[in-house]
Amino acid sequence: MNRRQPGLRVLLGVTGGIAAYKAVFIVRALREAGHRVRVIPTEAALEFVGRPTWEALSGEPVTTSVFEGATGVDHVALGRSADLVIVAPATADLLARAAAGRADDLLTTTLLTVTSPVLLAPAMHTEMWQHPATVANVATLRSRGVTVLDPDSGRLTGADTGPGRLPEPEAITAAALALVTPQDLAGRRVVVSAGGTREPLDPVRFLGNRSSGHQGATLALEAARRGAEVTLLAASIDASAREVAQHPAVEVVDVETTAELAAAVDTHTSGADVLVMAAAVADFRPASTADRKIKKDESAPDVVHLVQNPDILATVAARPRDGLLVVGFAAETGTQEEVLELGRSKARRKGADLLAVNAVGDGKGFGDVANAVTVLDRDGAQVGQAAGSKQDVARGLWDLIVPRLG
Ligand code: CTP
Repeated sequence: MNRRQPGLRVLLGVTGGIAAYKAVFIVRALREAGHRVRVIPTEAALEFVGRPTWEALSGEPVTTSVFEGATGVDHVALGRSADLVIVAPATADLLARAAAGRADDLLTTTLLTVTSPVLLAPAMHTEMWQHPATVANVATLRSRGVTVLDPDSGRLTGADTGPGRLPEPEAITAAALALVTPQDLAGRRVVVSAGGTREPLDPVRFLGNRSSGHQGATLALEAARRGAEVTLLAASIDASAREVAQHPAVEVVDVETTAELAAAVDTHTSGADVLVMAAAVADFRPASTADRKIKKDESAPDVVHLVQNPDILATVAARPRDGLLVVGFAAETGTQEEVLELGRSKARRKGADLLAVNAVGDGKGFGDVANAVTVLDRDGAQVGQAAGSKQDVARGLWDLIVPRLG
């Protein structure tokens, strides 16, 4: 575990299989998460996806031979500087060469110099995967501490099906990043609400708010990376927030109204360890909803009557909860001191175990922008702070939540 994410230096080896094109998505996902990626294809891999593609996507030079580095020791420098190594797809030939400790191209030479975690994602025909030579090579590599993923089962290059498919790029990326992320939420079940609830006035109009769902999505992703099984209760989150939350361990459940969110919270917190209410919940809803579009000439009301919605956070916090830790957010406006004072009284009122207070308005807080939260306990006492990008805030919040889990 060399350093905390993001900003890892990742080496991505690509070998010559038809699935090489899928490695393109691994480069993109890693870059989007803020990591540096150096691609080392084999000569055969370049038959499938060319050098310009790898260079353009990674923003780094691409070499396949040890003789291309100006100093002749490129592979040693590359291997030593890596925080994480992924080979995807890894052909039967690569597994054999790595198991034998061969050093006949830049990729295998580099594999002999790395000290970081290594993940290999094999892809080949079923017969090759099940051949005793490959089985023995995989066993050898695993006995040395290399993570070798099992290939997926399914349609292969031709008409054949069976084990041998490259796992999906998101699964490979998640498994690789898990090797360099503390798994302090392993075995935990986490529920995060995100976005903003909408209360319909008629079939086309609603009362809502500006929440994009980014903070909640980032919290869900960070929990999944740290080993949790996550349910993301998504109240009309942006498409980009939905993309942020993409992880094999995040299940997204879409909701619209506060009543739907309340029901989903009840269902999904049963047996869960943590509920984080990051959603901006509509406090009021129209007393009645027109079942046809309200027309401006006939039926437009002068006044919309509102009724109060249940407070989901306070309700869950107040009832017996069988070990469920409850975390709320408080979005407030005003000066720093006003925001904190409002946060303190909200913490006492809501009864959540933790309340993350942040200032909103003037472009702060909403959307994918920098953020800062002060975390209070149920008595309003400050227990910590987290600031920076939404990812930094998510990391800081989980750092405060984890030690409080039963
Ligand atoms: N919340 C909730 N149910 C509601 C309103 C809010 O569960 N009906 C949760 C939010 O998800 C958040 C916390 O309560 O975690 C605080 O939300 P916020 O909108 O800041 O507070 P309100 O209770 O709406 O109080 P006020 O409008 O007075 O600021």
